Amino acid sequence: MTQWWRDAVFYQVYVRSFRDSDGDGVGDLRGIIDGLDYVQSLGVDALWISPCFTSPQVDHGYDVADYRDIDPLFGSLADMDDLVAQAHRRGIRITLDFVPNHTSDRHRWFQQAVAAGRGSAERERYLFRDGRGERGELPPNNWMSVFGGHSWTRVPEPEGAPDGPAQWYYHLFAAEQPDLNWRNPEVVAEFEDVIRFWLDRGVDGFRIDVSDALMKDPDFPDTDGGWPVIPKHPDGEVHEVYRRFRKVFDSYLGDRMAVIETGADDETVAGFIRPDEMHLAFNFRFVKAGFDAGHLREAIDSSLAANARVGAPTTWVTDNHDTPRSVGRYSQGTQLLGSYVPATTAAADFDEARGLQRARAMALLLLALPGAVYIYNGQELGLPNVDDLPESALQDPVWEKSGRTNRGRDNCRIPMPWTAAGPSFGFSTAAQTWLPMPADWGRFAVSAQEGEPSSMLELYRSALRMRRLLPALGRANVEWVDSPEAVLRLRLNSDGEAVEVLLNTSPAPVPLPAGRVLLASADVSAGSLPSDASAWVQVAQ
Ligand code: GLC
Repeated sequence: MTQWWRDAVFYQVYVRSFRDSDGDGVGDLRGIIDGLDYVQSLGVDALWISPCFTSPQVDHGYDVADYRDIDPLFGSLADMDDLVAQAHRRGIRITLDFVPNHTSDRHRWFQQAVAAGRGSAERERYLFRDGRGERGELPPNNWMSVFGGHSWTRVPEPEGAPDGPAQWYYHLFAAEQPDLNWRNPEVVAEFEDVIRFWLDRGVDGFRIDVSDALMKDPDFPDTDGGWPVIPKHPDGEVHEVYRRFRKVFDSYLGDRMAVIETGADDETVAGFIRPDEMHLAFNFRFVKAGFDAGHLREAIDSSLAANARVGAPTTWVTDNHDTPRSVGRYSQGTQLLGSYVPATTAAADFDEARGLQRARAMALLLLALPGAVYIYNGQELGLPNVDDLPESALQDPVWEKSGRTNRGRDNCRIPMPWTAAGPSFGFSTAAQTWLPMPADWGRFAVSAQEGEPSSMLELYRSALRMRRLLPALGRANVEWVDSPEAVLRLRLNSDGEAVEVLLNTSPAPVPLPAGRVLLASADVSAGSLPSDASAWVQVAQ
């Protein structure tokens, strides 16, 4: 087994926002096919394609109504087959988004559950409970939804159902996303079959949505603050589910894989990537660390140590479709605190030049650390957040579900600019896109950065090229070298070659070690590393 995924670079395609082929202002699968030359020019190994299955799009595809078909908004099964074939021809692997925690309320199973009434086998596929109060008129417990508001919704009982009050169903996210009952073997079997369906079509793996939350405390106890109780024990039932999934993956040729999404602590995360469970897990502590040497170092050490104990690599990421873009976050240097759907960064404090400098510096850290890497489309262009969308343009369900207190995640989901001019900057033939693109978005376009040595795009391309050539990058053990507190300095040794990575978060320049500068995020011709910059230096062993 090659285990290609251990040090692979994945590129996350948020389908709606990558490239539109049919002029409706929403990205689609043929758009991804049209963008494959670009993806190949970046030098990534694989794509993660955000959900494109049949869905009413309440949570932009994270509400799946049919797991075995493509939503017409994005194309067809034939388009997906074509995408897999064309990507494979270029040596690029394809991974899809797998959403097992909940279905859409339009999923056949949920419709059957509502129609079948209390006590039925159909209801056993979801989490239906009687309410509290004299006539069951109060929700079964006080748990809140991640998106804001209650996590229980009541449905009328059908005629002819056994006597009793109308029941409530549980949803960790929106009411249109009912949670499945993962203690029901029928649910496990169905999803094993969904995995097979896509692996049979040649897909190389999955990103697993909300991976750790499949099992809720079956007693549904009230909690302080209404946060749900999700058992975390390393021998808990949820791990049985992943062991079952692993057997399905291992029954296929070609080293198929899955990456786990969980915001849990590093030890808990490592529990999901033991040798008989899944393959990779995002390091969200690194996402949240901000541009802060101390927090970054802690996030690196703690994840590497926890994962080493289970023999798994770490998966480095700074950006995704749920988190304000790092150019905005790093401009303030702040840690991302709070829950997993973060509050919008304060646009007023945004310093674009500083944010870009720091994002460039972080790119070289990200791509040097040993393990897998995920890059979110537009990150390689240095796209900032768009925090000033008019309220009427907001699309993320978080906005409405939070009672309009949280503007949600649209700020990091604006369509990609491909050309410096033209309607929607080459993203679409339409001028109107599903989220409006800022008037000056052309500054960040692929065509504006291509061949421009000082651009973010060319920095990513150079770094990815070097990472492929030098085994120390992305594959070596991390050794820390003594350095001032605000400077990260690490040494990567491999096969007679050593590379030092320096990241300067201090306000003053620091000296560079003796050696050959392979790549730097800023001008180092003076022989020192400026503030908010990083460099790769080949040093004597
Ligand atoms: C995941 C997705 C997020 C979605 C949520 C519910 O965290 O990344 O976009 O809203 O799950 O499926």
